[in-house]
Amino acid sequence: MPDPRSYFVKTFGCQMNVYDSERMAELLEAEGHTQAASAEDADIVVLNTCHIRERASEKVYSEIGRLKHRDGPKPIVAVAGCVAQAEGAEIVRRAPAVDVVVGPQAYHRLPDLIARAKERPVETDLPTLEKFEALGKRRKAAPSSFLTIQEGCDKFCTYCVVPYTRGAEVSRPAAAILEEARRLAGEGAREIVLLGQNVNAYRHDRTDFAALIAEVAAIEGVARIRYTTSHPADMTDALIDAHRTIDKLMPYLHLPVQSGSNRVLKAMNRSHTAETYLAIIEKLRAARADMAISGDFIVGFPGETEAEFEDTLAIIRAAHYAQAYSFKYSARPGTPAADMDGQIDEDVKSDRLHRLQALVQEQQLAFNRAALGRTMPILLERPGKRDGQLIGKSPWLQSVYVDAGSTHIGDIVTVEIEGAFANSLAGRIAFAEAA
Ligand code: SAH
Ligand code: SF4
Ligand code: F3S
Repeated sequence: MPDPRSYFVKTFGCQMNVYDSERMAELLEAEGHTQAASAEDADIVVLNTCHIRERASEKVYSEIGRLKHRDGPKPIVAVAGCVAQAEGAEIVRRAPAVDVVVGPQAYHRLPDLIARAKERPVETDLPTLEKFEALGKRRKAAPSSFLTIQEGCDKFCTYCVVPYTRGAEVSRPAAAILEEARRLAGEGAREIVLLGQNVNAYRHDRTDFAALIAEVAAIEGVARIRYTTSHPADMTDALIDAHRTIDKLMPYLHLPVQSGSNRVLKAMNRSHTAETYLAIIEKLRAARADMAISGDFIVGFPGETEAEFEDTLAIIRAAHYAQAYSFKYSARPGTPAADMDGQIDEDVKSDRLHRLQALVQEQQLAFNRAALGRTMPILLERPGKRDGQLIGKSPWLQSVYVDAGSTHIGDIVTVEIEGAFANSLAGRIAFAEAA
């Protein structure tokens, strides 16, 4: 056992990084280290980083700068995640404060790398699924817990770094996933969020994604199931049908389209068109009428014309989103789109982003307003800012603020919605048990 020290894991990027950070914390605790309140007072600081857009990957260097100028003894700094994978040894050259670099598929070796921090080791292998076998003791599970079932991506959208930072698409064996889901349920999870960069491409031996969901739904204690992120190409009829037949599967789907222009979609190497995408949404809503859809959009992809951007506004109007995330195209080194002609001015990108976000905001508000006066089951997940206030989630992933009364985090309660805003709802607990 090494000397017990305090650690802090700071997470950037997507839910898969959140999951990985939890796993790294467990590995460090298995070594006898204890969690510090913040990066400022930890002996070991792990920065779990994201490389998806330029601004995301720059954050790691400003964070390292902050740590370097911290008072007191210098911490051991480990850079993990997708920037670690993409930049590798370049990080130790550029940032003298960094002691360890570990990629997103190799973090099960973190304790050993920290023990060898003096050598400034760089570990960016992409071993298949090895990290999942090295789980430390599970900490208490959150009411809504992430569970990564699939890693990597084979889709190679021309703007995206993920296939390079996370490696090829691999699915975990169903038995290991189910065991982990049972363990999470045993530790208090009521909702399981199945994660993967292309979660709906999940397949292991004869288990496809729809079959896996059915097996997770059979676990006692699991009341809700979600999954993210899905690719339109893998939205099979069996999966759409699961939304009709499996009550525990929540009526909300994050289904990124990126653009409404078929020319741009083709240049992005997305395999769907605006029409096939909208047809999937129609099928989903036929399977389950109250299905809420969210999406991701990129504005200002190389060569995007004003008319093509307007096609994106048109698909948003046609899809009626409950939520959407939108980004200015960011050229990423090593991706095909970074070298394409017709890179768009920042001003034009900003203007398009504002227009798109204004439309999305309208849709989000309309979606939330439709909840006014209704009662719905809410999973209470965390404390609110005010004393006695809790924040929970509706089946449609809306955040709902309530006064807790005698109810607790982890309860599913019936709430009458009394307030609707662009990003949240407020309500009153009508029954302490969900109807
Ligand atoms: N696997 C998921 C999500 C990948 S990353 C999917 O295929 O949808 C999350 C989002 O970041 C993407 O959906 C996309 O909208 C955005 N994104 C990815 N690369 C980007 C880039 N180079 N510039 C701007 N946004 C990007
Ligand atoms: Fe990136 Fe496309 Fe893969 Fe999503 S599907 S992770 S956007 S390459
Ligand atoms: Fe970012 Fe890597 Fe996730 S680049 S979005 S942390 S897979």
